[in-house]
Amino acid sequence: MHPDLDFIYTRRSIRKFKPDAVPSELLEELLRAAMAAPSASNSQPWEFIIITRQQTIASLRRALPFGHYDATAAIAVLGSPLKARNPAGLLYWEQDCSAAVQNILLAANALGLGAVWIGCHPVKPEVWGVRRALKIPRTSTPLAVIMLGYPAEEKPARTRYDPLKVHWEAYGGGASTPAER
Ligand SMILES: Cc1cc2nc3c(=O)[nH]c(=O)nc-3n(C[C@H](O)[C@H](O)[C@H](O)COP(=O)(O)O)c2cc1C
Repeated sequence: MHPDLDFIYTRRSIRKFKPDAVPSELLEELLRAAMAAPSASNSQPWEFIIITRQQTIASLRRALPFGHYDATAAIAVLGSPLKARNPAGLLYWEQDCSAAVQNILLAANALGLGAVWIGCHPVKPEVWGVRRALKIPRTSTPLAVIMLGYPAEEKPARTRYDPLKVHWEAYGGGASTPAER
């Protein structure tokens, strides 16, 4: 693992948080990172909701059976293809928004925060629950909710590199580099 890529390998899903609030400047910085993500034809088919009210986070917890964490903040990442800069957003909004989610996770890690990706779309009950909790109109779809806060757990850096999943040059081409063959 190359040390220059520590910001990737040290990113882990953090599900335990300290009670300290995350300053709003940091939350805004996370969205600067989110909106630095690539998107198809640069369509940027996304919108974001920053949530810091504990009451709203509690309603998100109720909407997300796999998101029962005591986070102090959350960010909902919405696909909003009708607000995209061009029609590519209609086709690729899931990928574009996923790139934005990953940027938020990496940025949170680099800024000393902990975060976990809670999936919504395409699971209908989760999408409905998050829509209701955050008053999201039908023109936008919540792809994910990121639960955030200062981490109260530590996890080791890691990759899950698996040579069996690597093919060189063509499918079935083997996991060794041409030089090793
Ligand atoms: C699309 C997606 C949905 C996820 N949904 C949840 C979730 O609902 N609850 C949760 O605790 N973690 C969720 N995760 C986090 C994964 O469980 C986690 O990334 C995985 O176990 C690998 O661990 P790591 O993030 O520490 O590397 C989700 C991750 C992705 C990419």
